[in-house]
Amino acid sequence: MHSPNSVLSPQFTQSSPNVRMEAHIAQARQMMSDTVDKTKMYVDMEQSKAYAEHRPRYTDEMFKTIVDYCKETIPNLNLAVDIGCGPGMSTIGFAKYFKKVIGVDVSETQVACAPKDVPNCEFKVGYSDKLPFIKSGSVDLVCSGESFNLMPQKETFAEADRVLRPGGTIAIFGYDLPSSDNPEINAVIQKMWLTMIPYWPKESTQLFDKFASVQIPYPGWIRNDSLKLTMRVDVSKYVGMMKSTWPVTAYSKEHPDEDFVGDIAKQIQAILAKTGNPNQEYNINYNLFILMGHKPKN
Ligand SMILES: C[S@@+](CC[C@H](N)C(=O)[O-])C[C@H]1O[C@@H](n2cnc3c(N)ncnc32)[C@H](O)[C@@H]1O
Repeated sequence: MHSPNSVLSPQFTQSSPNVRMEAHIAQARQMMSDTVDKTKMYVDMEQSKAYAEHRPRYTDEMFKTIVDYCKETIPNLNLAVDIGCGPGMSTIGFAKYFKKVIGVDVSETQVACAPKDVPNCEFKVGYSDKLPFIKSGSVDLVCSGESFNLMPQKETFAEADRVLRPGGTIAIFGYDLPSSDNPEINAVIQKMWLTMIPYWPKESTQLFDKFASVQIPYPGWIRNDSLKLTMRVDVSKYVGMMKSTWPVTAYSKEHPDEDFVGDIAKQIQAILAKTGNPNQEYNINYNLFILMGHKPKN
């Protein structure tokens, strides 16, 4: 992998708070890797532990938005399958609405970090496009949180169609790159993500543009871009969040002599120190997006 500083254009390396990620997606695509094995991005136990502890928790408003859509065609919900479930933050929010929820992820370490104390949730290691343990026509919801960009999409849609009952729902959701209310912290965060861009697989730009190119293969499918997610973090929580991501993990392994995450933490602490408390909490904001469609009833 190349060193980011040698390939980033001047506008990528500036730290202006006005840097907007959207404006750089086209250039980002050219810098991103097409050699990452997307089934091996989350196989490091330290990364999975950080993921389980520090990644954003989806809001109940989001789970309910998806559940209400499911109920339009199937009022009594039985089974949901969450593909690319990670350590389960996209899975357990459905537990109170379905009799049973099965989380499936290709990574053993991610599944190992999923909660074991939610009685109607089960987690399995497996591929999104091969669900032999699920009967055809038995599922009310197939969902994918922050993961559809990593999957073989045509084959995953075909497998979802096999397991869904008529009227069942596919829901694909996620969040875009974060920002902070504090403009100085925002500049540090944006610059960090721009540095990380070459380490992402090319398909991750689908998250940055909220799956604009993805079409659910059912007529009348909809998208909802109105929901937000805010995390309250201090610097140590934010360090955990950074360590849970693939590009930070890959960059840190390639540059063992650098304390990349520690340097970002120090920059944020220096900004917060001006207000008297370098460890005070601040907001990290995400835009949520959901794409949803019903399998036709006939
Ligand atoms: C960014 S994490 C998302 C985890 C969780 N759903 C969330 O919303 O935070 C992406 C997950 O997709 C998994 N994954 C990637 N390709 C997959 C595939 N083909 N089938 C199943 N899981 C896959 C990865 O192992 C990883 O745990």
